[in-house]
Amino acid sequence: MVKPAIEYDVKDLKLAEEGVKRIEWAAREMPVIRLIRERFGREKPLKGLRLAACLHVTTETANLVLALKAGGAEVALCASNPLSTQDDVAAALVAVHDIPVFCIRGEDDPTYYKHIHAVLDQKPQITLDDGADLVATLHKDRRELLPGVIGGTEETTTGVVRLKAMAKAGALVYPIIAVNEADTKHQFDNRYGTGQSTVDGIIRATNILWAGKNVVVAGYGWCGKGFAMRAKGLGAKVIVTEVQPLRALEAAMDGHQVMPMAEAAPLGDIFCTLTGDINVLDRHHFETMKDGAILANSGHFNVEINIKGLGEMSESKRRVRENVEEYRLMDGRRIFLLGEGRLINLAAAEGHPASVMDMSFANQALCVEYLASRDVPLPVDVHVVPPEIDEEVARLKLASMGTTIDELTEEQRKYLSSWEEGT
Ligand SMILES: NC(=O)c1ccc[n+]([C@@H]2O[C@H](COP(=O)([O-])OP(=O)(O)OC[C@H]3O[C@@H](n4cnc5c(N)ncnc54)[C@H](O)[C@@H]3O)[C@@H](O)[C@H]2O)c1
Repeated sequence: MVKPAIEYDVKDLKLAEEGVKRIEWAAREMPVIRLIRERFGREKPLKGLRLAACLHVTTETANLVLALKAGGAEVALCASNPLSTQDDVAAALVAVHDIPVFCIRGEDDPTYYKHIHAVLDQKPQITLDDGADLVATLHKDRRELLPGVIGGTEETTTGVVRLKAMAKAGALVYPIIAVNEADTKHQFDNRYGTGQSTVDGIIRATNILWAGKNVVVAGYGWCGKGFAMRAKGLGAKVIVTEVQPLRALEAAMDGHQVMPMAEAAPLGDIFCTLTGDINVLDRHHFETMKDGAILANSGHFNVEINIKGLGEMSESKRRVRENVEEYRLMDGRRIFLLGEGRLINLAAAEGHPASVMDMSFANQALCVEYLASRDVPLPVDVHVVPPEIDEEVARLKLASMGTTIDELTEEQRKYLSSWEEGT
């Protein structure tokens, strides 16, 4: 194979052939991105624009990157999590599509950040982030690049929380559109995508039967709801833990048991955290768990389970299967941690199915176009996705599914915008 002329750091370019086939497979389920890619190819709305993307390097992300490139952008890509990279996809993007990609599955933290810096070396004008590590690094260590940046997008809940904290502290220097806040993102990607793929990850790691098991779901946000719904569908008895009364109430009315984690800890067979919070499963919970309890996390960072504490409480630790580590506690009980506590749907499975990422990434692509096409930059803040983009994505997705819907009649439009008519 001829060595590509671009800079890159991926595991093995020989994996490219497999990556190409899998990117094509995902493309079959991404009709909205396909339509956007075709239009971008004709109109070149991103011509010459330098983009730095820090996203999970998966087949779906590859399709987004190809759409952006078709629009005329120069895109450099690194991973938003050390364990989520699909090395064959990274290889295909470099070898076949000349995209500078910097990521290797399982890279250590220094390499992860070295790769973020490599992407920043391309002097981006727009950033695409998933978890805000790229934006945080740019603001902390590469401030000389900030004047050249016109805007950015953020994919996930945790990233949006971090960016809002930056904005509140006056630390954010350029505007960012929170793609996660689009209805066509979180209501589908987080609920159906994370829901299904988290179950998939736990099954692939353990091959465990769910029917009759007690599954404890920490957090009843969009991800937690989706996961609880799928676990219930497999015959599990679902217990939800929450800190927000409204969400707890919703879980109770959806038919789940709701209780504090301290009460759920001795009952659970499988635990999954989906909160974006820290130490949701902690030492005092491990102390009361059953022998054989399985712990997984699907929240963005590997901080939701106190892994350090679990290690300190254990007399030994060994790997018993791929993505399964057995911690043997001093009293002989065993606790199994999946995927090193990193998002299990990406560590042990393939991340979200392409069909939902189609909508999330359509929002990404259209938001990048929106940022690039503005005469006046957006004010520095964390912005919602413009409603017309959200609606356009839903319209395109419905059309691709062959589903049509009713339209308001003139009479209905008038009725719905008036206040005079009552009983
Ligand atoms: N695995 C994936 O592929 C994937 C995809 C999308 C989002 N995420 C991540 O998943 C996490 C959750 O996302 P979301 O969209 O559901 O967020 P969300 O804000 O809708 O829900 C999080 C829920 O967790 C609850 N919570 C917080 N601390 C808690 C605690 N100590 N105990 C119990 N509940 C607690 C909150 O009250 C909230 O209801 C975030 O970190 C997000 O970035 C992961």
